[in-house]
Amino acid sequence: MSAPNSNYDPKQVSALDAEAVASALAQALADIAAATDLELLKAARLEHAGDRSALALANREIGALPPAAKADAGARVGKARQEIKRALEERAVVLEAEAEERMLAEERVDVTLVVDDLPRGARHPLTALSEYVGDVFLAMGWEVAEGPELEAEWFNFDALNIPAEHPARGMQDTFFVAPEHSHLVLRTHTSPVQARTMLSRQPPIYVVVPGRVFRTDELDATHSPVFSQVEGLAVDEGLTMAHLQGTLLHFAQTMFGPDAKVRWRPSYFPFTEPSAEFDIWYPQAKGGPRWIEWGGCGMVNPAVLRACGIDESRYTGFAFGMGLERTLMFRHGITDLRDMFEGDVRFSQQFGVEF
Ligand code: FA5
Ligand code: MG
Repeated sequence: MSAPNSNYDPKQVSALDAEAVASALAQALADIAAATDLELLKAARLEHAGDRSALALANREIGALPPAAKADAGARVGKARQEIKRALEERAVVLEAEAEERMLAEERVDVTLVVDDLPRGARHPLTALSEYVGDVFLAMGWEVAEGPELEAEWFNFDALNIPAEHPARGMQDTFFVAPEHSHLVLRTHTSPVQARTMLSRQPPIYVVVPGRVFRTDELDATHSPVFSQVEGLAVDEGLTMAHLQGTLLHFAQTMFGPDAKVRWRPSYFPFTEPSAEFDIWYPQAKGGPRWIEWGGCGMVNPAVLRACGIDESRYTGFAFGMGLERTLMFRHGITDLRDMFEGDVRFSQQFGVEF
């Protein structure tokens, strides 16, 4: 009796015969090559390299073979499995690269795409201008101050040397606020902030006050019942009319360019003495080129300094108040101030966010 399997007959172990191994290998390589994505490759791996694959099962049978057959079958099966393993790895590298490329292409964000075509608003040029004016003075070491639009009659007039019954009250047509005994008005100018500032602190004082003011004026190309002014107040030792002129000239040239044509006219305000008005030559004016008043100014009346608790024997001051709508008109050649109040966004958009 021969020992079991001592007479090795390769045909008895069909899973291991060379043909079977070669065909399993060929099938595996074909499936791997045909796998067009990682999912299919995974299926091919399971089928041809998994625990239940033909070659894995064949491999398990090797142990039971007689020694002479073991090496032979082992080499054959092992080589086939190695080849499959390498084919799987190579295919995986290719498919992973493809998958990544596809992902990059599919998930690409086109940053040049216009995603927001809703019309956008624009800051109103007056708002931008009023901030710019503030910056011009901040750059000279001044401060920006503010005061209420609903103002005490006393600050709007009395503190500025305009007592009740004084004809100067009629210079600015006033919106009084009911009831009469409230003694409140919509401020007719930004000058009450002069008094508020001087009452709250001691010199040196250098403040600018951009703000909205109200008058019962008719709406026309250069007037509106609601408009804006920028007030300036400087109180210090030794200030003269020359400082006022230098400051306003610098302000005008910053706003309208170095060649701006300006003119001083003697004028009257109860809170300044002497007083002047400051005009700009306006070539684009409706009805032809002419001078248009930009604002009023003067040396702070000592009576006002005194009323606000400042030693008028030690300090002098100058003040000015310019119209902001007119500033915008002169800067940009706007012919009609009413365009600023119509709320047509196309008007604002022309200015973008210029400042
Ligand atoms: C005043 O209001 C003074 N408070 C100015 C002042 C300040 C003088 C400090 C001295 C010292 P007046 O009423 O002239 O002055 O107005 C000043 C400027 O405001 C005018 O020159 C003009 O540019 C502008 N303005 C006046 N009324 C209107 C209006 N209805 N619409 C648009 N701008 C106006
Ligand atoms: Mg005036």
